Parts: sequence; C-alpha cells; structure tokens
Amino acid sequence: MMNKRFYLIIWLCCLPLLMMAATRQIKIDTNTLSLVFQVGDNGRFYQSYLGKRLHSQTDLSQLALGTEAYITHGMEDYFEPAIHVVHNDFNSSLLLKYQSHEVKQASDGASETIVTLQDDKYPVTVKLHYVAYVNEDIIKTFTEISHQEKKPVELQKFASSMLHFNNAHYYLTEFSGDWAEEVRPAIQPLFFGKKVIDTKLGSRADMFVSPFFQLALGQEATETNGEVLLGTLGWTGNFQFIFEVNQLNGLRVISGINPYSSAYTLNPNEVFRTPDFYFTYSFNGTGEASRNFHRWARKYQIKDGDKTRFTLLNNWENTSFNFNEEKLVSLMGEAKDFGLDIFLLDDGWFGTKYPRNDDRQGLGDWTEIKDKLPHGVGYLTEAAKQKGVKFGIWIEPEMVNPKSELYEKHPDWVIHLPNRDEYYFRNQLVLDLSNPQVQDYVYGVVDGLMTKYPEIAFFKWDCNSPITNIYSYYLKEKQTHLYIDYVRGLYNVLERVKAKYPNLPMMLCSGGGARTDYEALKYFTEFWASDNTDPIERLYIQWGYSQVFPSKVICAHVTSWNRNTSIKFRTDVAMMGKLGFDINLSGLNADEATFCKQAVKNYNALKPVILDGDMYRLVSPYEGNHTSTMYVSENQNKAVVFAFDIHPRYSEAVWPVKLQGLNPNKQYRVQEINRMPNARGGQYAEPKTYSGEYLMQVGLNLFSAYGTNSRVIEVTAE
Ligand code: DGJ
Repeated sequence: MMNKRFYLIIWLCCLPLLMMAATRQIKIDTNTLSLVFQVGDNGRFYQSYLGKRLHSQTDLSQLALGTEAYITHGMEDYFEPAIHVVHNDFNSSLLLKYQSHEVKQASDGASETIVTLQDDKYPVTVKLHYVAYVNEDIIKTFTEISHQEKKPVELQKFASSMLHFNNAHYYLTEFSGDWAEEVRPAIQPLFFGKKVIDTKLGSRADMFVSPFFQLALGQEATETNGEVLLGTLGWTGNFQFIFEVNQLNGLRVISGINPYSSAYTLNPNEVFRTPDFYFTYSFNGTGEASRNFHRWARKYQIKDGDKTRFTLLNNWENTSFNFNEEKLVSLMGEAKDFGLDIFLLDDGWFGTKYPRNDDRQGLGDWTEIKDKLPHGVGYLTEAAKQKGVKFGIWIEPEMVNPKSELYEKHPDWVIHLPNRDEYYFRNQLVLDLSNPQVQDYVYGVVDGLMTKYPEIAFFKWDCNSPITNIYSYYLKEKQTHLYIDYVRGLYNVLERVKAKYPNLPMMLCSGGGARTDYEALKYFTEFWASDNTDPIERLYIQWGYSQVFPSKVICAHVTSWNRNTSIKFRTDVAMMGKLGFDINLSGLNADEATFCKQAVKNYNALKPVILDGDMYRLVSPYEGNHTSTMYVSENQNKAVVFAFDIHPRYSEAVWPVKLQGLNPNKQYRVQEINRMPNARGGQYAEPKTYSGEYLMQVGLNLFSAYGTNSRVIEVTAE
C-alpha cells in the first residue's frame, strides 16, 4: 500500500514535467519518417531529428535540442537565414519564440501540424505548417508570415522550408539543361559553403533548371540503395534552393521563392503565404523516393490524378503553321484511324489583322485566321465530332507579339520598360498578370473559346518567353512585387478556369518543359516534357522527369525527330509516358501503320499499369548503352517492361535485366508485345512462364548488341 502511494505521489510530481516534455517536443510522423522539433529553455524552436521513424518514447527524450528550425536574420547565426524582415523602425532583426501548436487531421489521411512562433519585441507571427501524408511518406511544408506593426514591413527573405542535416557526406543531384535538353542530372558533393540552385526567368521559369533535387546523405545513393531526400517546390515562377554547409559540417536546405528582386511590402494583418515545399526521404535509394512522389501526386496533387489520360494526334511537328481546314479535317480522320482520342490543333490558327503564319505576329489576338479557317473553330469541332475524335486547341494566353491588335490597344498590359528599346524572346513579350484586368483578359481567352465552342475538349497552354524588359505599369512603386504577383495572378486565372471547367483536361507547355512544378499540376493534367522528341534524347529526358513526376503527366509523342530510328523504337519510348503522335501518319508504310495501330491498342490496354502502376527504373541510360524501365500494377498481377539498346559497342557483352516489384511467389506469363508485323525470332515472342522470384533474381535477356533496338514485354500473373 505504502509502495503504491509513494509511486502515485512521485507520478503526480512528475506529471507537469511529463506534460511539459509532451508539449515541448513535437513529432511529425509518416509510416517510415519522423521529423522531431523541440522547444528550448529559451523558448526558441529547434529541429532535433529528421530520419527513419522513431518509435520509442524514451529515445525521444534523449534527442539533443538540434538547430533552430526557421533561422532569422539579424541574430547570432552566421549563415543563410530562412526569413529576413525589416520593421517600421528599420531594425531588421527577428527572434522567434514558440507560442503554440495544433494538429489537424484531414479526412484524406493527411495530418497537419501548425506551429506558431512569435517575436517578443515586434508583433510578427510566423506559422510553420507541416502536412504529413502518412502512407505515401511525403511531407508538405509552408510558412505564413504576418504582423501587426503600425505600417507595412518589408520581407526580404521568406522561405517555405528550412531543414537541417548532420551527416559525414552530402551528395546533391540537380537537374539542369536548356531548351531541348531538359533535366540532365549532375551529382556533386557538398562541402563548406553554399550551393544555390535558382531561377530568375519569371514566366518560363524552369528553362535552365527544374524545381526539384535529390540529396543523398552519408554516401551516394543508387536506385535501390542509400538514404536520399527528394524535394520539390510548387511554384510556377522564380524558385530557389540553398544548400549551405557550415564549419561543423551541418547542412541547411532552404527552399522557397527566389527573393531576388522581390522584396515584399507586407501590410499589417496581411498574411504572406509561401508556396509549398514537398519532400520524401527514402532509405532504399532514389527509386523508392520517386515512387512515393508518384503515388502521392496521383492521389493528392495533380489535376484528375485518379483519372486516365487521352492519347492524341498533334499537328505541330507535321504541319507547323502551314495548314488549312481541309488538311486539319484529314488529320482528324487519321487520328481516328489510328485509334487516337483527340486531335490537337497547335499554334497558327489565329490573328485577324496580323495573321499568325509564323511566330512574329498575331499572338494575343484569339480570333481565327480567315484564310486558313474560313468557317472558324466551330467547323473544326463539328468535323472532329463527325470523325469520332475529340478536339483540342493550342493557346499561349499570357503572351503577346508586339505586332498584334492586343499590343496596339493595351500597351500598358504588357511587361515592358517605358523608356527603353524592347528586347524580344521569340519575338514576344509577357502580359502583366499582376494586373487584375489582365487576369480577366487571360481567363477570357479560355472562357471565350469555351463559351463560343463548347465542344473544345482539351487545351495546350504554352508559355514561350521568360519575363523580359521587367516593368509593370500596374504595380507602379511596387515593382519588386512583380515576380511574385505575376505567379499569384496566374493562379487566380487557373482557379477560375478550373472552377468553371472542372472536367477540361489541359496540357502545360513552356517551349518544351520549362514549367514543371506541382502547384501548376493542380490545374493541368499533364505537361509537355521537351520539344526534343528524338527518342534517344527522350530516354534521358523522361528518365529525368520520372525522378519526381509520374508517367501520367509526362507527355511523350512519336515524331519524325531522328529518322534513323524505327517507328517502333520511337513508339516504344513514347509509350512510357502519356502517349501521343505528332507525325505525318499518312506517310508511314503499311507495316509501320499496322504497328502503330496495334501499339495504340496495347497502350490503351496497359494504361492502368503504365499510368497508375509503380515505376521501377531498372537500368539507367546514363550508365551505358542500354536502358530499361518497368511498371507494376498495385496488386502485382500485371507489369510492362521496356528495354532499349542505344548505341552498343561492337560485340558488347550484355547482362539479363533483373525485374523489380513483382510478387516472388506468383507465376508470371512473359510475352513480347509491340512487335513489328512479320518480325521473326525473339526469345519472348511466344509466352513463357517464370516465378516472380526468377524474374527478380535471374532476370530476362532483354538487351542486344543492335543499335536503337527496343522491346516491350508484358508480364501477367497466372
Ligand atoms: C513551343 C511548344 O513546345 C511546341 O510544342 C509548339 O506548341 C510551339 N511552341 C508552337 O509555337
């Protein structure tokens, strides 16, 4: 009895301490990850841990305080801050103390932790949001900054996220390039100092570098081994990632809008909400990190993520600006004949005073060219209906050619300098989306077309110029808001489009893949990955985008780039993404046409696996002359394997490709599909049966010593 009372008293005495420990430590978990924060005795807020999920409560109490979670400018830290605020009295220090936190459970399985921090000298509040997608192992973070000073404050830095790491070695993979050479990975070790990945291009923001990175911790990661953080920012504009290693080899990663030329005047009680930074952390290499993102994106992020995608025939690579009604109607017939769902009319259909017969004029004037389309778009939607395909149309509504009626009427809607000669990127300028009137106009491009031609079933939304000649007539003395308010204006427009036309699929394009981020993908069902459709180049480009985006959103078209490769090779490559054709189908020979028609049928049957299955990158094109990727359905009953020989050396030795993601205990029927008519031979031409274990341990002989050779293998559980 005495004993029990003694323990009760001890327990009651400890209760406040336990409760304090409970409120002073905040733990955010997914199935395999923990992110742990603590409040220090000084009231400040620290990141104590980020890594594999910790389960034991006693272990948690052993964690060191760590590093301040959201470091401010002007205090005792000597490295890059997450936030920099200039107050009314020109003091630019900020000291954030923990105030409170709350956890909200969302109905869809995500849980959101909101931590409120406050300065004790200035009425500035910072809310850190962490949304954990438990099953997908994705954490979304963003920040809200507000204040109640008497007059506006100036935000000079405003990160979405700051994360801290403490490892012996760090290896960063960036994905950079240019037009037609997008997403080339480059790995670099990080040592003392700063590595910055950013963009200042505004509208065509990702032309030189994509808004995602991989960070391998401790040692370099492979597809199947190693600890790796995969992070990306959802912002369709200037972004910045800073990786800074300090004198103790601690690494901080700061992600957000690029603050370059973007000091933001924040009014009292206004909330500055940063874009979302998303990350996953894999302990089994980059492949798993990608699959986490793919699953999460389909379920939570991309427009119509749970719906299938349409195949299409585009006319751009085939006709360029040279077409007329008759030509287009015949292309619609071909689209139908090949089993494609949509005919997509590209650039060059508009402009009355300045017909858009090349890229030097007409952009901004969204009325049909009379010579080319005497009966208007309505005639085309009707013809498409007659032929049995849907009709899609290209627009570039954020841009204007100086030679256009729009520019003549509204020069003040255009971003350009009032007192200097204009500089043009692709002969065009960018409209000022910070201006609500311009937002109305851009929304009106889609709404006007949809109202007049409700049968339009698809849009390709292009954006070919970065912001140049930077000056907004609308923003006047707030010029440093332009980069940010442009993107916000774009989102206003896209919200309106989505609200009024929720079932309208749209492809995002930016002279190829210069706009590829997860915020844009809330509004777009897919993106054009690159104007480079040489299938060999595409093997690398699609490999790059697949690191963070699912195949469902990566548009891949069969074109006549690199005629040295067969139609089969080109089609096999394009079937790994969202398949389309942009080629003169009537120019194909009989065998090629038969092959393509069958390939479209195969693709339609395999869409649930290719578009919604788990992707395993088996052999990297960067490692040699061959590459292979496979997709596996969630129930592991169906898989498709793609294998390509690029430029093998003479008599080069090849190895079997070991499959992944199958059930070792199931028996699978393996058969080559997508064969050219009359093709002879081939080890898997006739079906063969193997166990999942065999396929993953021994593998299949899919590579050859032939240049630009490809195989598609269907794997079906028996
Ligand atoms: C750039 C795009 O990437 C192309 O696919 C095509 O739509 C052209 N613009 C049209 O101008």
